[in-house]
Amino acid sequence: MDLDTFGDQLDRLRGAALADVAAAGDLEALDERASHYLGRKGTLTALLRSIGAIPPEARPRAGQLANAVREAVEAAMAARREALAAVQLERRLAAEATDPTLPGRPRRRGSLHPLLETSRRIAEIFGQFGFVVYEGPQVETDELNFQLLNIPEEHPSRDLWDTLYTDLPGHLLRTHTSPGQIHVMRATRPPIRALLPGRCFRYEAVDASHGFEFFQVEGLMIDEGTTLSDLRGLLDEFAHAMFGADRGTRFRPGYYPFTEPSVAFDVRCVVCDGTGCPACGRSGWMTILGAGMVHPVVLRNGGIDPERYQGFAFGMGTDRITMLRYGINDLRLFLESDVRFLEQF
Ligand code: DAH
Repeated sequence: MDLDTFGDQLDRLRGAALADVAAAGDLEALDERASHYLGRKGTLTALLRSIGAIPPEARPRAGQLANAVREAVEAAMAARREALAAVQLERRLAAEATDPTLPGRPRRRGSLHPLLETSRRIAEIFGQFGFVVYEGPQVETDELNFQLLNIPEEHPSRDLWDTLYTDLPGHLLRTHTSPGQIHVMRATRPPIRALLPGRCFRYEAVDASHGFEFFQVEGLMIDEGTTLSDLRGLLDEFAHAMFGADRGTRFRPGYYPFTEPSVAFDVRCVVCDGTGCPACGRSGWMTILGAGMVHPVVLRNGGIDPERYQGFAFGMGTDRITMLRYGINDLRLFLESDVRFLEQF
């Protein structure tokens, strides 16, 4: 083979190799091309080996040309390898990248039931006045639920509480949290500031505002010189903390066998703010609890001397307070355990 032929073949191989290198789309393709031209059985390698077939005087020149081509091809491959590696790194980083502007994935967390939340809020407010939380049993005796609260057997005031009786004679499901007053009076000594939250039961036809199962919070304060105006002041503080600092309040005369005098405590309607609407029966007021001065008979039944101590008590419906707080219009939602309702709190 003469030098010209050798040179022509070199030129063709170089052109083909450089074009291939430029066309290699990824590192694998580039590696494949590298071994095709420069590997042990590569085409360029084979051509370099054929230098022995060239006349001896032309060999140095042929060697120079061949080395120049190999170097050019190797340099092109190195440059291409670097470029492809940079592109692949960029692609990988792009694939792994996090976008901080994407909305977060919500974490599924439980939360307190709205009734429990309200019950805790009530305890928190009265807690600031020194009230301590107690709990009484849900199954009570007729004596504790009624008789010791100045509601004798066969007394017409029993009609205020439609009662669910148990098979066990003399035992019933408590109709209110008031028997807790007797438990606390018998278990502790004055001064007493007690709060008694809990579940109550009545023989009721169920509708949007009545359940056979509902919740109350009872309050009891007993000390020397406790008055009705202490009760009024305390309930005002409560109403303001629960429904807003400028919420109007009033006492109305009421009747309960275990308090004398008895009152109903109203707040300005939380829906219409007092102008009158269907929610408040157009009166502008909503009754949120019953209260009064603890009847001397009840104090005595609790083992407390009414000549020395006076006290007041109040009882509120946790369901009703919660409905007013959150604008809920049907009390049945509380015990249906529907997550679509519960997850809003
Ligand atoms: N126990 C009453 C009821 O269930 C509510 C109540 C009224 C509780 C007056 C009291 C009170 O402590 O003084 O209707």
